[in-house]
Amino acid sequence: MDLDAFRWLLTDDGQALLGRAAEIVAAEPDPLRASTALRSHGTPEQVAAALTQADLRARALDKFGPDAARMYFTPDGLEQATRPAVAAHRAARLLAASTETLVDLGCGIGGDLLAAARAGITAAGVDLDPVRVEVARANLASLGLGGAVTVADATAVDHSGFDVAFADPARRGPAGRTFDAGAWTPPWPFVVSLLHRDACVKVAPGIPHDLVPERVEAEWVSDHGEVKEAALWSGRLASVRRRATVIRDGGLATLTEEDDPGAPVRPVGEYLYEPDGAVVRAHLVTAVAAGVDGGLVDEHIAYVTSDASYRTPFARSYRVLEELPYREKQLRTALRERGIGRLTIKKRGVDVVPEQLRKRLALAGDAEGTIVLTRVAGQGVCLLVEPF
Ligand SMILES: C[S@@+](CC[C@H](N)C(=O)[O-])C[C@H]1O[C@@H](n2cnc3c(N)ncnc32)[C@H](O)[C@@H]1O
Repeated sequence: MDLDAFRWLLTDDGQALLGRAAEIVAAEPDPLRASTALRSHGTPEQVAAALTQADLRARALDKFGPDAARMYFTPDGLEQATRPAVAAHRAARLLAASTETLVDLGCGIGGDLLAAARAGITAAGVDLDPVRVEVARANLASLGLGGAVTVADATAVDHSGFDVAFADPARRGPAGRTFDAGAWTPPWPFVVSLLHRDACVKVAPGIPHDLVPERVEAEWVSDHGEVKEAALWSGRLASVRRRATVIRDGGLATLTEEDDPGAPVRPVGEYLYEPDGAVVRAHLVTAVAAGVDGGLVDEHIAYVTSDASYRTPFARSYRVLEELPYREKQLRTALRERGIGRLTIKKRGVDVVPEQLRKRLALAGDAEGTIVLTRVAGQGVCLLVEPF
């Protein structure tokens, strides 16, 4: 995106063109015709900038909700931005730890910066990319929030004057999303150096546990069942070693290793629980098992079973109706006998591709069903279950 054209968009004339572009993008799916319709209202660069912003705002609606209509984006910046619910949770945690000032070392278009400013934290951001800096600045202004954003190399910034340093390194190399911490920018050694002070660093959820430095807390966060990130908290911000935080419908629940007395492996009972991905990543499945008076179906499988029915934010709950044959031919017969034509297939620990299996089962019937394919004591097991 062109920096001058973006700056012009923030002028009165630019805002008028952006307003028109939003109407056109909503009504005209063809970019060429949309561009032609706006031709007389600005230079080709200005028209392109307005159409790009209008299009990005429409795309951002899903992530940023009503704020999207007032915000600015770059395509990558939108994709990389932290979801508001996750950023708001981080900001609330920082505030609860009496954070007054924060520096965001690589703030992008400002997903985390905006949440910190909104929580009342005095927030400053830096980024290497001048367009993103301009966009983040415009977002603070547009949402009526205070804060400063400047172009700088995070690795050369003196962050000692801030209560907390935050970083969310870019993890996308030319080969796509990567867990190779060596390819992050700012780089992993810089991240590790930050973790010697009060800091929070957002990392990929697949971070191996042994990469988490001593005395640093790793918090895996999911939003509506999808694991979004791991956050590393250091200094006075770290309170445990492992935490799973589950965000859903405006609510939040958190579980740590202090909630984990361990749990036995036990026979499958009347209920089955499928722990949230954040819980699985944080290695806290046994904490969920303990919370529902249950145990694990298998030492190596992240399914919990119990004779008691609980509602827990940390797992999906199912009633076990019966055990069906694991072998495909017999399973097909069993499903036919029950008239199950629409089948949800859940699996953990077994080598099954649900879409392919569903096709091979050639289901027929009006009933709906859910099966769980997993391993118990090394043996494949198929359970017919019903969500509750
Ligand atoms: C994943 S994005 C940050 C997204 C942001 N947390 C948000 O929610 O919008 C990472 C950012 O770090 C910036 N960056 C990478 N290396 C940097 C460096 N050495 N100094 C400053 N910024 C850097 C990139 O330009 C990019 O905007």
